[in-house]
Amino acid sequence: MQKISSFEEYQQAYTASIENPEKFWATIASFFTWKKPFTTTVKWEFDTPSIEWFLGGELNITENCLDRHLPLLADKKAIIWESNFVDVPSISYTYQELYEEVNKVANALKSIGIQKGDRVGIYLPMVPELAITVLACARIGAIHSVVFAGFSAQALSDRLNDAQCSLLITADIAYRGDKTILLKTIVNEAITITPSIKNVVVLNRNKELIEHLPTDIDYKTLVASQSNQCEATAMQSEDPLFILYTSGSTGKPKGVLHTTAGYMVYTAYTFLNVFQYEPSDIHFCTADIGWITGHSYLLYAPLLNGATTILYEGIPTYPTPARLWEIIEKHQATILYTAPTAIRSLMTYDDSYTATNDLSSLRVLGSVGEPINVEAWNWYYQKIGKSKLPIVDTWWQTETGGILISSLAGITPMKPTYATLPLPGVQPMLVNEKGEEIIGNGVSGNLCLKYPIPSMIRTTYNNPIRCKEAYFSTYPNLYFTGDGCYRDEDGNYRITGRVDDVLNIAGHRIGTAEVEDAINQHESSVESAVVGIAHAIKGQQIVAFVISSLEIKDEALICKQIQDSVSKLISPIAKPDQIILVPALPKTRSGKIMRRILRKIAEKQIQDIGDTSTLIDASVVDTIAQLYNAKY
Ligand code: WT7
Repeated sequence: MQKISSFEEYQQAYTASIENPEKFWATIASFFTWKKPFTTTVKWEFDTPSIEWFLGGELNITENCLDRHLPLLADKKAIIWESNFVDVPSISYTYQELYEEVNKVANALKSIGIQKGDRVGIYLPMVPELAITVLACARIGAIHSVVFAGFSAQALSDRLNDAQCSLLITADIAYRGDKTILLKTIVNEAITITPSIKNVVVLNRNKELIEHLPTDIDYKTLVASQSNQCEATAMQSEDPLFILYTSGSTGKPKGVLHTTAGYMVYTAYTFLNVFQYEPSDIHFCTADIGWITGHSYLLYAPLLNGATTILYEGIPTYPTPARLWEIIEKHQATILYTAPTAIRSLMTYDDSYTATNDLSSLRVLGSVGEPINVEAWNWYYQKIGKSKLPIVDTWWQTETGGILISSLAGITPMKPTYATLPLPGVQPMLVNEKGEEIIGNGVSGNLCLKYPIPSMIRTTYNNPIRCKEAYFSTYPNLYFTGDGCYRDEDGNYRITGRVDDVLNIAGHRIGTAEVEDAINQHESSVESAVVGIAHAIKGQQIVAFVISSLEIKDEALICKQIQDSVSKLISPIAKPDQIILVPALPKTRSGKIMRRILRKIAEKQIQDIGDTSTLIDASVVDTIAQLYNAKY
């Protein structure tokens, strides 16, 4: 693949990708292993939408992640696993070992009846088996749907039901810092409300702790007897590779569907260029494989490039806030890709934690998931990068599969808080409320794409209308990202945050509708509205305004119960930090809750509340503000 190595080369590649996208992507795609070459590079229209790349081609992504690197990289480390606990030895898999293990698990899946096109739910902690089962699914053409192991039984079941998964792969326990999470207990509860699940395979890590069911299949026993050869199933370019659930502004989370060839080509190309990957790199991405960052830039793209990737089960602050720096020194990591929320949390500690370890192996720093504030950027640059390393602020989404706007490490200029320039192939467009293009520089607008990229969302699983409504209906013939954006005088893009009812809590995407729905399941909640306000570490925190049928004297108890119910129905991540019981909510005549007003109240900026003339009863604003100010 072509690696861009100067600013001029970036400009040339960008121009070429816009003038002739088909030629540009066909050339990049030719560097991969195809079982059958593609005949048409792209066919698309955003109205339906219908987006197809590399038509006529057949391939298997795992042949490109594994087989293609053998025997040359047989002894190179593919995955290094680092435990939650400092004293548990690391485990590594070479490319040869990973290849054999993936084939064994692929055969194991086949032996229990999994076939091409079947959906497999994966609910595992950050252990090597998570990476291996994902790849094993891809090996046989089963569609993986990884559910982050921090989600509750209800949230897990919702996702498994929606995708109609027939198999669930899980573990008895997960370790996160000083917590032991009884995953299997959550699974046992989830499967009672998930009729599609026929089998549960359990990776047993600590026999004593688990609640066994007689029907459970033991992972290690199942895999041990399998052959380490499994022919990679031939997949059409547009055959589904995976489903990953993400929140939107309305309703329940939706299953973003990614397909095989476009996802492979785009993630591999962007990994190579954004991080300026070199074969000697040790890549450390701290994201969980349960999120898109883990799928694309911890697992698939590094392996597609023949890289060594670190998989860390724990959290940045356990047992001390030096944990990431110790891992970097121990494994001589060269790339660190993490989230602003982690940086903001680590920068609250004493400088001694960053000063002790040797970080000189590092070459590139990356940031992802939310806007990075200038204080966090400076700390990252100075304390971790020692004021020498490039920081790539990578903007993208679950729906785009790969990075769209970012600098290329050390090649294109960086600018704090700016994602900077679009990658080759990416055609961003800023529009106003009416959908008219805002041209020129020094302007703000809603961020859209006017041309498809190979790895973008194809549909929302089982519900194509939702895909159209969420992304392709706001502005005709454009993909709408949901983000607001500023373009500076030099054409650099700065993402200013969501312009829809989507919250970003510590880099996790949560829909207001989802949280409100969970609150409303509490017996005393009549109606609720949630908003996000600034939080020093998490970026945003959730504030819930709830109309309760119970007497206010029980406020503390009701609020606690509501928090517990949100944790149970979604995840502790979605728990409102502040809850305020109110007699009414600000509504327009058409019944729409004006969250903008609630946000101003929670930000204590009631003087900037703006026009309230569309409200049925403007006096509720003062009532709510008084209640809020009395409590917070
Ligand atoms: C939303 C996507 C991309 C993988 C992790 C999150 C926000 C993401 C940045 C960034 C500013 C960012 C956007 C986007 N976001 N990266 N570098 N600068 N904002 O994936 O859960 O699908 O969320 O995260 O608002 O739309 P996701």
